[in-house]
Amino acid sequence: MPKRYHSALVFLHWLMALMIIAALVAGTFVLAPVDNSDPAKLLSFQMHMGLGLAIGALLLLRLIVRASTAHPAPATTGIALADRLAPLAHWALYLLVLAMVGSGVALSLASGLGNAVFFGGEMPANFNGIAARTGHGVIATLLMITIGLHILAALWHQLVRRDGLLSRMGFGKR
Ligand code: HEM
Ligand code: HEM
Repeated sequence: MPKRYHSALVFLHWLMALMIIAALVAGTFVLAPVDNSDPAKLLSFQMHMGLGLAIGALLLLRLIVRASTAHPAPATTGIALADRLAPLAHWALYLLVLAMVGSGVALSLASGLGNAVFFGGEMPANFNGIAARTGHGVIATLLMITIGLHILAALWHQLVRRDGLLSRMGFGKR
């Protein structure tokens, strides 16, 4: 069994980590507080939606790479419950990211935003009453919490248990 994940998976992990954190931060602090009537918002929408769709495409690529490469043996914490939760947390991350992309696309279709942003249609005044908008916000919060726990778990392995877990998600000889 290899010592690390495949370098293509490692590359996708860190690239997507940056993209997802950027989308979460920009969605919360740049998009949500600004009114749709603000002309500056068009560029923010274009960047956020482009980034979100790119994350969706990379996620599909990542699942293919994941299914076709060998992984290291499951990491152990010495705590049976934590060992059982880790793979569930990883699948939750994949599912939540997919749900962010799905709810984002559903929101832009339901509100006419996609048409406004990419084809010059009329900008919706707001997203009030659109279930996908509420869903996108709730899923974003769940994703932030899960990423926070994921980072804490990685740091716990690295700094408390000192098992060199981060090197499994690093480049080098397998
Ligand atoms: C920026 C801080 C992050 C750190 C320090 C980090 C660290 C790690 C490490 C060390 C692993 C390997 C675990 C193992 O050896 O089994 C891992 C796996 C994983 N990470 Fe992260 N990660 C970060 C961000 C993210 C983000 C933002 C996501 C996606 C939302 C993510 C999704 C995953 C997934 C799904 C796996 C499991 C890989 C697999 O088996 O498919 N990580 N992460
Ligand atoms: C992983 C991908 C994505 C992440 C992490 C993400 C993240 C976020 C976050 C954190 C917010 C603010 C939520 C709130 O404060 O309630 C937001 C808002 C939004 N996102 Fe995304 N998003 C993603 C993908 C997409 C996609 C693919 C689209 C559309 C094609 C999209 C369209 C929107 C729209 C229209 C808003 C609402 C802005 C407003 O209320 O003015 N997002 N996103």
